[in-house]
Amino acid sequence: MKVLVTGGAGYIGSHVVELLLERGYDVVVYDNLVAGHRAAVHQDAVFVEGDLLRPEQIATVFEQHTFDGILHFASHIMVGESMQKPWKYFRDNVSAVTNLLEVATAHDVKRFILSSTANLYDQPERIPITEEEALIPGSVYGETKYIAERQLYWAEQIYELKYCCLRYFNASGAHPNGHIGEAHNPETHLIPIILQVALGQRDKLTIFGDDYDTPDGTCIRDYIHVIDLADAHILALEALMNGAGSRVYNLGNGRGYSNLEVLEVARQVTGRPIPVEIGARRPGDAAALVADNTRIKQELGWSPEFDNLQAIIETAWKWHSTHPNGFVDGTDG
Ligand code: UFG
Repeated sequence: MKVLVTGGAGYIGSHVVELLLERGYDVVVYDNLVAGHRAAVHQDAVFVEGDLLRPEQIATVFEQHTFDGILHFASHIMVGESMQKPWKYFRDNVSAVTNLLEVATAHDVKRFILSSTANLYDQPERIPITEEEALIPGSVYGETKYIAERQLYWAEQIYELKYCCLRYFNASGAHPNGHIGEAHNPETHLIPIILQVALGQRDKLTIFGDDYDTPDGTCIRDYIHVIDLADAHILALEALMNGAGSRVYNLGNGRGYSNLEVLEVARQVTGRPIPVEIGARRPGDAAALVADNTRIKQELGWSPEFDNLQAIIETAWKWHSTHPNGFVDGTDG
């Protein structure tokens, strides 16, 4: 079985690539290295430096390989940036999916896994959030993922391509052996920022708001380990290979932690004090986002290995403390 992984040099993509290789897949990574790192790509994967905004580059890869499935990660991912640079997100994220699907359907590829987002549930009526909630993207970033889901819907109608959209909650942690992990530039995510403070690379953590309608006033999120996330992708792909229909799944542990709780667990794991201040709310933040993961557990048999925050932060700390400067391979991101 051979699969194409776009964005395979990025945080989530690189972890999925390793799991795919472990499970015997042939893997071709397609990444423009704008945000990804060449050093994050396992040596047993074929690496192609290419851009999804260049259809002729995509076509070349499909002429050289026959794919049993595609896992699409390559995307701009920052909620905040998407509200400042909306056209960058619409142009790049939406065109990337359009170009990829145009080439993939021309080559008769029948299986596609999309990395989607909990940002589609900006106004949930119930927590935990099921897949039945209204789809109301909370940002331009989320909107581009919504459009990607809709493109897949039409790809199925017209080309019989089967797909699975995985709506991630908060991806976190690192490979347990500590050789790959999260390395964004600039970093905006809570756990890596906390660990940068623990390492002395930042003076303090600023918590964005403590006046939310939550027990301690700080936002609540559902942290899911990147290896459990990777496992879900392979289960989803294998379900499609076994004849399952197109599906969407929420992907989280089903347990929420407030920002102050995350800080406290990080203090315990690192044994460092980690100074904190309370700042203003960050525009676009929902008070609480927690997944109802019943559907993916029942239908795919997904069973997270890292189902508590302590275990997640321990793996993140192993990565950050041994790679304080991320990947030193000359690429940025
Ligand atoms: N936070 C702080 N201080 C910081 C950084 C973050 O208080 O320095 C807070 C945020 O305000 C939020 C929480 O920590 O309350 C988590 O923030 P992250 O930026 O780590 O993650 P988000 O929940 O904003 O977003 C993540 C992904 C998105 C995805 C979303 C889905 O980055 O791509 O989860 O839930 F859409």
